[in-house]
Amino acid sequence: MKLVIRGTRAVETEDSELFHKKIFDFYRQNRRSFPWRETTDRYAVMISEIMLQQTQAERVVPRFNQWLLHFPDSVHLASAPLREVISMWSGLGYNSRAVRLHRCAAIIKESYGGIVPSKPELLKKLPGIGDYTCRSIPVFADNLDLAAVDTNIRRILIHEFRLPEDISVFELQRIADAVLPLGQSRDWHNALMDYGALVLTSKSTGIRPRSRQSKFQGSKRWYRGQLIKELVHSEVMYLEEIEEKYADCPWNLDDIITDLIHEGLVEREENANPCVRPMLKIKG
Ligand code: ADE
Repeated sequence: MKLVIRGTRAVETEDSELFHKKIFDFYRQNRRSFPWRETTDRYAVMISEIMLQQTQAERVVPRFNQWLLHFPDSVHLASAPLREVISMWSGLGYNSRAVRLHRCAAIIKESYGGIVPSKPELLKKLPGIGDYTCRSIPVFADNLDLAAVDTNIRRILIHEFRLPEDISVFELQRIADAVLPLGQSRDWHNALMDYGALVLTSKSTGIRPRSRQSKFQGSKRWYRGQLIKELVHSEVMYLEEIEEKYADCPWNLDDIITDLIHEGLVEREENANPCVRPMLKIKG
């Protein structure tokens, strides 16, 4: 199969069905058993996904079980004093995750009647829930047809489809969406997690997690540079694509783009056809 990315770049891949077969065959023989795989309760899945963000799965198991006995749902969690929540989190590292989880529970209690929402766009608004987790919760809890890309899945896609390691989050998401086997999202993601943890490890592939931010990274000047680099590389980009890719930009993206246009570096392409979304490109 040829995966066509953004209508212009093609990535040669093995057939998508062969990819499914390889991953699911492996999963049938080697699947790991975890308590969060035995539940479809969205609150429990949310807790597991937050705990798993920076802590090894085996270490999470006992903590996950204890947590659910102590705080069985969002309402119990929201009603507990923060110090109790932090104390239950101890040993998992990054206490800020516990603080955010407590704030999440308060919002879920107040705004959603104590039920963790299933829509990614609602989940994304909760503290500490990012692009991956807002998808992974409904994937694991509801088997929703969505692709969630964490560091394991990113590594598998890069390896299997021979993608460049600096592939953008946007493009990687497009590929993950394209290869998702519909109706099997939960199993698919569990299988990918196992394949990434047991076969295509960081060590065996040499593919490292995306680099951590430096001081300059994240500055307004850095975002400006990134945007120019990206446009030089891809020739044109949809505004929508830029907005999605830089959704976490703390600066006003419109201002950055307007400055680049005023300085004559970049131009905006409109199309008479209203169905064609505006695009940005390097001027000249
Ligand atoms: N890491 C994140 N989610 C996971 C899951 N469901 N199983 C194993 N590792 C994970």
